[in-house]
Order: sequence, then C-alpha cells, then structure tokens
Amino acid sequence: MYKEFTELLEKRQSIRKFSQDKVSEELVEKILKVVRLAPTAGNLEDFKITVIKSREIRGALQEVTFVDDAPVVMVFSALPQASKKFYGERGEKLYSIQDATIACTYAMLAVESLGLVTTWVGNFDENEVKSIIGAEEGEVPVAILPIGYAPENLVAEPKELKEKEIKYI
Ligand SMILES: Cc1cc2nc3c(=O)[nH]c(=O)nc-3n(C[C@H](O)[C@H](O)[C@H](O)COP(=O)(O)O)c2cc1C
Repeated sequence: MYKEFTELLEKRQSIRKFSQDKVSEELVEKILKVVRLAPTAGNLEDFKITVIKSREIRGALQEVTFVDDAPVVMVFSALPQASKKFYGERGEKLYSIQDATIACTYAMLAVESLGLVTTWVGNFDENEVKSIIGAEEGEVPVAILPIGYAPENLVAEPKELKEKEIKYI
C-alpha cells in the first residue's frame, strides 16, 4: 500500500494542457467522495467546492488563470467566518484556509489515482474568480483544479526528490 501510494506521488506532476476527452460523472463523484474524507478543524467542514462544467464559466476562468481549458474545473473556497465563530482569529485566518487546501490536496491526489491530470492553480485575482463563480458572501476561493486527461503526446519526466529544509532536534 505504501509503495502504491508513493508511486502515485512520484508519478504525479502538474499538467497544464488537457485532451478534449470528457471526464465522466462517475469520476467526478469519486473525486468528491475522497474530498469528503478530508479532515477539517473541529470537523466544521468549513469549505466549499464549486464544480464547473459549463463551457462559458470554464472559459472565463481560463482567462484569469492562464491554464488551458479542462473539461471539469473545481474551485475550493474557504469560509473564514464559519471558522471564526468557533476558533476566533486563528480559525478565520488559518484553519479555514488550511481546511480548503487540505480538501484540494485530497482532490488532486484522487485525480491522479483515477488516471486524470490537473495543476493546482493559486495565482488568480480573488475578486475575479468570486465574480465568475457567483461566490456567496464570505466565500473565499483559495485554489482551483482544472481536471482532465493528459494530451496523448505527453512525455512525463521522472520526478526527483526536492531539497527541503528539515530540522532534526
Ligand atoms: C499553492 C500553489 C499554487 C500554485 N499556483 C499555480 C498557478 O497559479 N499556475 C500554475 O501553472 N501552477 C501553479 N502551481 C503548480 C506548481 O507550479 C507546481 O506544483 C510546481 O512547479 C511543482 O511541479 P509538480 O506539481 O509537477 O511537482 C501551484 C502550486 C501550489 C502548491
């Protein structure tokens, strides 16, 4: 199991171009099922996912994220006010963001395990994305996953272990 898991991590890489093949409803549901296993602070489930299939909305997101159009796009939003109620400033500023990003990480790994590809997109104007997805008040988009199949001619580079600052004490 550990081997399967590490192999999945070794093979995963950010892919920013997608084939035209559709992603089935069944696979979308599988990704969402994994996301629902993600932990959240105090079990508050204080994040929101917007699943976008509409070509028009995907196109608008493509323009503000500069990543190719994918058949499905998921936007992960934090709900800082929900966390604030229970955990004050730490909940508002930290837990809510962590909860949404953990959920996005779960989704990213589920995508990989299902033979799909994605790239974590964080570089966008928050207000533009809010407007495109019709965010509710207090909903803060923190990460976007465009999800699809890799283009046929993609040649994956083997991944190397990166330098990390690790302190042993
Ligand atoms: C928080 C975060 C934000 C990111 N934002 C973007 C982004 O806006 N656009 C993009 O093309 N890639 C983005 N990436 C993907 C990284 O560039 C990518 O993960 C990194 O280069 C390592 O490559 P790998 O995912 O193939 O291992 C982001 C990744 C993270 C973790």
